[in-house]
Amino acid sequence: LRKPTLNPVERRLGAALSIGDLRAVAARTTPRAVFDYVDGAADSELTVRRNRAAFASVELVPEYLSPVDAPDLSAEVLGREISMPLIFAPTGYTRMMHHEGEAAVARVAARHGLPYALSTVGTSTVEDVAAAAPGGEHWFQLYLTRNERLNEELLDRALAAGFSTVVLTVDTPVAARRLKDTRNGLTIPPALTMRTLLDMARYPSWALNKLTTAPITFASLSSIASSGIDAVRVADVAFEPTLSYEDLAWLRARWPHKLLVKGILSPDNARRAVEAGADGVIVSNHGGRQLDRTPATLTMLPEIRAELGPDPAVILDSGVTHGQDIIAAKALGADAVMIGRAYLYGLMAGGERGVERVVEILREEYSRSLQLLGLNSTAAIASHHVRLP
Ligand code: FNR
Repeated sequence: LRKPTLNPVERRLGAALSIGDLRAVAARTTPRAVFDYVDGAADSELTVRRNRAAFASVELVPEYLSPVDAPDLSAEVLGREISMPLIFAPTGYTRMMHHEGEAAVARVAARHGLPYALSTVGTSTVEDVAAAAPGGEHWFQLYLTRNERLNEELLDRALAAGFSTVVLTVDTPVAARRLKDTRNGLTIPPALTMRTLLDMARYPSWALNKLTTAPITFASLSSIASSGIDAVRVADVAFEPTLSYEDLAWLRARWPHKLLVKGILSPDNARRAVEAGADGVIVSNHGGRQLDRTPATLTMLPEIRAELGPDPAVILDSGVTHGQDIIAAKALGADAVMIGRAYLYGLMAGGERGVERVVEILREEYSRSLQLLGLNSTAAIASHHVRLP
């Protein structure tokens, strides 16, 4: 049981019992334009609903009469053990959601023995993340730009900072249209308008970092542009409509450690990515934020695993919000899942403590669901435990 507390942030985090509850808290504590940027999706937002519907349609088939007293949640991804099959997906501009930003997420990930992926358009540098969470497993998500020197610099710095894995995102040849962002007049960083000033007054926990540390000001948000990785400048050149298998082969030759391709939905695309040298794929529709009307990732997963065979890494994201979603993905062929919005809701709801709460909730749900399914470990999950109509 949680200790009683008077701290209002702790109280509202403790009262949140699900990722959906944290999302509701985030909606109350974050300016509308920022919340919608996280929560929204492309065009008619059909894919984002499909992702959830696919997870909701899964049936879990329990088998009892074997001991489930001490579930071993650990999993193996890319030859390394992680504490459960959960990874933090790369998300851009994380300091806009909460001033604690990427460093907070990386610290929580490291504390729990889970990998954290930093975005190319993050608002902290690879050096910042390495310093904030020493000993953590850090991945770097790469948007290849047309500026070859910038690409090489990003890779060199990720290597020097000890990052273990590069994730090449391929589903963003052009920016998608997210109507809420246009309607809200979202700019990154937020422009100095009357509306932003009102937001700062109305959402003090978003605008202010208590009394002891620096307030989020336009200066600090603009310092996104001087954060080294230079997210705003990179974003201008990040979307690369000419990205090809040749670029992937170049990256394979250039990067000495593990390499994943993110944004894969087709078995053929997955096989060719692995043939070009990737160690695996991330089955993802970018959380419904890029091409709308794609299939749910879960429904494509079995075919992709069948095409690749058992060895390459297969990670799934898009729509994971419950421990049982992790079981479904594992049973249908994934080594692990990634979460994007789920941890951002926690971050918006309560900074680092909110992200901690996200892991607490998912871990508890995953562990209890394994036991209720009659299983004593992640490794015991098999395809016959799940039916996908
Ligand atoms: C993302 N995502 C993303 N992916 C990526 O490769 N580079 C990026 O910079 C970003 N930025 C980003 C920002 C925000 C606000 C969100 C919500 C997502 C996609 C992310 O890595 C992941 O694929 C999805 O978030 C997974 O879906 P869920 O978990 O959000 O449903």
